[in-house]
Amino acid sequence: MCGIIAYLGDRPSFPLIIKGLKRLEYRGYDSSGVAVFENGSLNIFKKKGKVADLEAEASAAGLTATIGIGHTRWATHGEPNDVNAHPHFSSDRRMALIHNGIIENYAAIKQRLEKKGHVFLSDTDSEVLIHFIEDIRKETGQPLEEAVRIALREVVGAYAIVILSQDAPDQLIAARKGSPLVIGIGDGEYFLASDATPIVEYTKNVVYLDDYEIAVVNAHGLKIVNLDNTEKLPYVQTIELELEAIEKGGYPHFMLKEIFEQPRSVADSMRGRIQPATGMLQLGGLTGHFDKLVEARRIILVGCGTSWHAGLVAEYLFEELARVNVEVEYASEFRYRNPVIHHDDVVIAISQSGETADTLAAIELAKERGATIFGVCNAVGSSIARATHAGAYTHAGPEIGVASTKAFTSQVTVLTLMAIALGRHKGTIRDEVFTGLLEGLAALPGQIGQVLENAGKIKEIAYIFTYARNFIYLGRGLHFPVALEGALKLKEISYIHAEGYPAAEMKHGPIALIDEDMPVIFIATRDSSYEKIVSNIQEVKARKGRVIAIVTEGDELIPKMVDFVIEIPESHEMISPLLSVIPLQLLSYYIAVMRGRDVDQPRNLAKSVTVE
Ligand code: M6R
Repeated sequence: MCGIIAYLGDRPSFPLIIKGLKRLEYRGYDSSGVAVFENGSLNIFKKKGKVADLEAEASAAGLTATIGIGHTRWATHGEPNDVNAHPHFSSDRRMALIHNGIIENYAAIKQRLEKKGHVFLSDTDSEVLIHFIEDIRKETGQPLEEAVRIALREVVGAYAIVILSQDAPDQLIAARKGSPLVIGIGDGEYFLASDATPIVEYTKNVVYLDDYEIAVVNAHGLKIVNLDNTEKLPYVQTIELELEAIEKGGYPHFMLKEIFEQPRSVADSMRGRIQPATGMLQLGGLTGHFDKLVEARRIILVGCGTSWHAGLVAEYLFEELARVNVEVEYASEFRYRNPVIHHDDVVIAISQSGETADTLAAIELAKERGATIFGVCNAVGSSIARATHAGAYTHAGPEIGVASTKAFTSQVTVLTLMAIALGRHKGTIRDEVFTGLLEGLAALPGQIGQVLENAGKIKEIAYIFTYARNFIYLGRGLHFPVALEGALKLKEISYIHAEGYPAAEMKHGPIALIDEDMPVIFIATRDSSYEKIVSNIQEVKARKGRVIAIVTEGDELIPKMVDFVIEIPESHEMISPLLSVIPLQLLSYYIAVMRGRDVDQPRNLAKSVTVE
């Protein structure tokens, strides 16, 4: 939620910041802005809309400064407009701030400052923060770094901030709590950003700022202190991210690129984790903590959105393969519910970004109550990855399209490996089942490739249903979460109302919606629920619903009953969600494109939800 980029060095900062903002645009795209020094004074350019709108406007100013800060916004306080866009000035216009997060006690601070004569131009909590820092500076006469420290000790909420000040025009001050901030260290230059994507082109050496830390960057180097003013030696890490991974690579949208990357990303999620000779599973990140999983009284899977759907798939996997009690929780509900948690519970937090505020809070709660926390994250070094006791990265590579696709299949792949490893250790998987699962996993990347070859047919179906107003998605067992995921994909990028249900639930209410105008998507592969789902299809056809069925290759029965079929290869039932979800991703994508939607940056959404 909101993207931050700042630069200090010898290069012209404006083009670098604009490029960085475009890379970060997936984090928020309702408005953007930059602040740079030009002719000895601090200038701010802000614009509602995409970064390209800002670029068009500010380019005319011919900016040449070599220090600057930039921000792309996802509105929380105040509507998206030019005034509420960041950066925000202090009242004397000598300081500018960019902020990602929410200052929860901003109203009380604002009231205090207003009584002292501060006038606020925007509706944002962020503008209050820079005025607060300015006020502390004036009241105490302390240098900026100290004023920031005093202010942040009083602030409640989450923030990643960067401040540029006219009084120290060759210095950037940054801080974080709850929202990510990474500092790239180049040759005599520094890059501060919400994630490494705008940095990787220039340097691979980075320092991740921790919560409650303040960074001061200037010609003397990088200094990090915490809110108690204790200095810390920066820990420089090398990032592995490659530039191609964050570019479209010839695809019209990141989402399509990411859908087509799945044979590779799923293979990467398994790479090195299955010993070819012995079939033994090895998840390095769990080493030293695997016993906790083996002894777990209960596994609680927490996540939001698509990650929660991956958790629902995993519920079936862990129960079936490892015979352990499983609960799946929306992180946002779990964190406020006073849940009963035992010291021998294991919580598995699932998150692509590793920054989702509700998931992080759920982890902290479960940790306080003594549970062991495992993470299944995609973003390396992210807050969630660092907050967990152990975990397994999904290695899907950066996912930039707001709609999650390859992250989901990689999450499910890793969770499948975890469930198999646990079941094998506990002796709850018979040898022949184990062999079947390993064969299924080995065939998976190729089979995903086969499904992707059907894209043309799926596009034709999308064309027929482009202007449908509603969709119902139905599945049973492991395909019920896939139905939820298919419906979520469609609604978030095409803005069509869609609902996912367990197919058997249909007759308890949703069946009332069925008529000749209602498209119903069935995930009806040949598995243990096949006969049941065939009956459910008949129930819909009897009411004239238009049925699109995802079926197993060679199925002869269902194609005779339904309007459209999409075939997927036969696979092990436990692995089949990784195939059945692919046509649903493609269908949503093509419908959204045909409706002229902004597929990678759908309205009202942001990729990384760092506010609750
Ligand atoms: O980064 P996370 O996996 O924690 O994000 C959770 C959800 O915000 C995310 O899955 C969201 O639902 C996606 N936009 C769905 O496509």
